[in-house]
Amino acid sequence: MNKTFYLTTPIYYPSGNLHIGHSYTTVAADAMCRYKRATGHDVMFLTGTDEHGQKIQQKASEAGVSPKVYVDKIVEGICELWKTLNIQYDRFIRTTDAEHEKAIQYIFQKLYDKGDIYKSEYEGWYCTPCESFWTETQLQDGKCPDCGRSVTRTREESYFFRISKYQNALIELFENNDGFIEPASRAKEMLNNFLRPGLEDLCVSRTTFDWGVKVPFDPAHVVYVWIDALSNYITALGYPTDPKGDFAKYWPADVHLVGKEIVRFHTIIWPAMLMALDIPLPKKVYGHGWLLLDGGKISKSKDNTSVNIVDPVVLCDRYGVDAIRYFLLREVQFGSDGVFTNEALIGRINSDLANDLGNLVSRTTAMIDKYFGGSLPHDSFMKSIEPVDDELIELCRNLQAQTGASLDRLQFSVALTDIWKVISRCNKYIDETSPWILGRDPEKKSRLATVLYDLAEAIRIISILIEPFMPDTARKMQDGLGIEDKEITTWDSAATFGLYRTSGGVNRSGPIFPRIDIEKEIEELRSIKTNNENNKTTERSDENEGVTFIEYEDFSKVQMKTGRIKECVRVEGSKKLLKSQIDMGGEIRQVLSGIAKWYDPEDLIGKTVIVVSNLKPRMMMGNESCGMLLCAESGDDLKVLTVDGEMEPGAGVS
Ligand code: ME8
Repeated sequence: MNKTFYLTTPIYYPSGNLHIGHSYTTVAADAMCRYKRATGHDVMFLTGTDEHGQKIQQKASEAGVSPKVYVDKIVEGICELWKTLNIQYDRFIRTTDAEHEKAIQYIFQKLYDKGDIYKSEYEGWYCTPCESFWTETQLQDGKCPDCGRSVTRTREESYFFRISKYQNALIELFENNDGFIEPASRAKEMLNNFLRPGLEDLCVSRTTFDWGVKVPFDPAHVVYVWIDALSNYITALGYPTDPKGDFAKYWPADVHLVGKEIVRFHTIIWPAMLMALDIPLPKKVYGHGWLLLDGGKISKSKDNTSVNIVDPVVLCDRYGVDAIRYFLLREVQFGSDGVFTNEALIGRINSDLANDLGNLVSRTTAMIDKYFGGSLPHDSFMKSIEPVDDELIELCRNLQAQTGASLDRLQFSVALTDIWKVISRCNKYIDETSPWILGRDPEKKSRLATVLYDLAEAIRIISILIEPFMPDTARKMQDGLGIEDKEITTWDSAATFGLYRTSGGVNRSGPIFPRIDIEKEIEELRSIKTNNENNKTTERSDENEGVTFIEYEDFSKVQMKTGRIKECVRVEGSKKLLKSQIDMGGEIRQVLSGIAKWYDPEDLIGKTVIVVSNLKPRMMMGNESCGMLLCAESGDDLKVLTVDGEMEPGAGVS
């Protein structure tokens, strides 16, 4: 029977658009699972969405829709994004799935029956964006120690999980840390910051909002969102209703892949819950680093003012999915933080993908086509081997084992660096052997065939090893070499040098990665960014199904006054504009309005209208306009707003 491999990503909060940082976890998870499938594992790759909690309820209410309607729409977009990024997950769980909700009630009840959950009163601090409870001493400068945002004082009757009971078992787990937390440095952090100072029992229910799974024996309470969310890793496998199915097959998970800020939940709360439920612990929790944007964590809530475009859909659209996948896994050592910039991304595309890899493939297939009509003679390999070939062949022979060893440690960037060393060696080999010179001499035909064979074979091996990272590119490379035989594209086959063959001949096509003009591109990105910002308000109102909420402070910035129109004329050279002189009570303002289609100037004289009086003056058709008339518009109809009855000019409007 196949060996199984169970890997999970965190389940995502559907509280806005996902950015490139979110894609990082999922792309890494996908690469890992593709590698495991290629090496014969029966893989279960789980991802999903974490849909309950105060944060989602608040967002939905701001949008004027029910939480379910709100999350449904965002979850659709998340699934679409994973499709775009070529993510091959096996299961997608939503915490609003009925089966999951039932399982959460079962888990809560079981812990309660066991005495590991008890009722008491919670008084402390709560960070709504992180859905985290904090004690006074844990706060940093009175703010959430995880995200630095404000916390709210909370006092409510709650259920508590007796996590303190598991403190010693957790300390033991961490001290032995047999690969349970990686990178290992994170184990120290957990021990020193949370476990050794002592665990306080965890508040696991809320009564101040109701968007969550109800506590089965006390429905005024909803289950704390992290208890609900963490359990997804077992409920998705059918726990507790089907203990003999996927749960028996895949649990314990081989890897929970998570960002570093949620390592605490996965290595303290989750193992304690599993201990309490008598369920074995996952084998590994890997806490990767953050992708930073200009030094700060990329986040939905931060206002990113640089030119950086971090929307993965836009990035995939402009550069192709594989370029994004490559960059994410190559640029930063997995486990550490790294910086994302559009310049660095384009730099990698130009140097690694267009120059190194793209040129190697196009030069090799072009030469096989030119000198051998597309197919190398079958005996090319070894026929005219020379010492200069040895190093390249040796590197290729070792590459599969080397890549596998790095991937087993989730060291994606190390694996890619090793692969690119071989790509560089191939390009150097072309310079050393100068096939175009060999091609001029008919006596050197057999040497030329060997040189090109070595290159084609290296490309075959490389294509197999980059498949987990860049699946489409792998296929394009194999198509380019004219490989039809699936047996020579398996992971195992990449350990042997000398298997390349084609019956149909190579296929020449355009470059697999076109070069990008970096300056022009950055300029275009800048204008996309500006357009996006200008459209933000419209987008937001779309998202919120027509409702855009603003704070009272926003509204109070707009000053409006009544004004009486004293004079009004058409603006010369314009079909749209009328120019009014308006008495604002002690001052006369000139205001231009695009209303000539609906009003003759004389219709307006004498009317008391509403003027936005603190709008920055601007020039229109050579005339200064100092304010704006309010109008009502419907379809093709427009009416200037006037006052109901007599009112002095200059009266405030609110
Ligand atoms: O944490 N760089 O969901 P989430 C790297 N619902 N990774 C990043 C990142 C960045 N800039 N920003 C986000 C949650 N991530 C919970 C999980 S699991 C039971 C519940 C990663 O949508 C983040 O570290 O806020 C996490 O791994 C994932 O995106 C989902 O984050």
